[in-house]
Amino acid sequence: RKDVGRITTGSSGFDELIGGGIETQSLTEVFGEFGSGKSQISHELAVTVQLPEDKGGLDGECVFIDTENTFRPERIEQIANAFDLDPEETLQKIHIARAFNSSHQILMADKINELIQSGVNIKLVIVDSLMAHFRAEYVGRESLAVRQQKLNQHLHVLQTIANTYNVAVFITNQVQARPDAFFGSPTKAIGGHVLGHASTYRVWLKKGLAGKRIARLVDSPHLPEGECVFKITNDGIID
Ligand code: GTP
Repeated sequence: RKDVGRITTGSSGFDELIGGGIETQSLTEVFGEFGSGKSQISHELAVTVQLPEDKGGLDGECVFIDTENTFRPERIEQIANAFDLDPEETLQKIHIARAFNSSHQILMADKINELIQSGVNIKLVIVDSLMAHFRAEYVGRESLAVRQQKLNQHLHVLQTIANTYNVAVFITNQVQARPDAFFGSPTKAIGGHVLGHASTYRVWLKKGLAGKRIARLVDSPHLPEGECVFKITNDGIID
């Protein structure tokens, strides 16, 4: 793959774990229980994508599809300040799309093409969280097949944007604390086949001691499994 770009998570350990930061032309999924840091990493990346390349960014803008009203402008301002970026300018380069239901969420993703074609330099698309609406709307066994089909369509659109425009896609997925509940990965269909391309990264986030977090890379086609520890601070994500 040509011209793959990488965006820093703010933690060098985390970056190393996933091969040097989150990749363009790929989907990166983080999953974990509530409070494990999924939204915090989303906020961090929305800022770091704007950094110049020599600082771990892509000099780009970001689309933030917010499904649970978790986007916090004041958090962006804090992180921007930590990177010596202008908070106002940083916020202007984050295109917030609030998705009210799953159809709306699908539509938002479809519209990213138009935004990019109008000349906005989008380098990152965040979906926080991917599954919340789908889980709430498609309940019961009989609707699982339809849910998976809609979800696959949605992921396919995201993967196409990633490939066509050299964009990184970052999705969050809330799961129960119990490891045996982890089948339900949106990017990994039953049978172990990773959806779309082999370029999908999956990272399991766990809470550690004293406010620390553990990131574990799972099911990666190219990279060894491994773990790292990171922290969430007022300045954002650090080692
Ligand atoms: P849900 O959104 O609840 O599913 O969880 P999540 O995995 O997205 O968790 P999130 O990323 O929101 O992480 C929440 C944790 O981040 C909190 O428990 C805090 O430890 C930490 N956190 C959030 N905001 C701040 C902040 O401004 N400063 C610091 N130091 N920590 C913060």
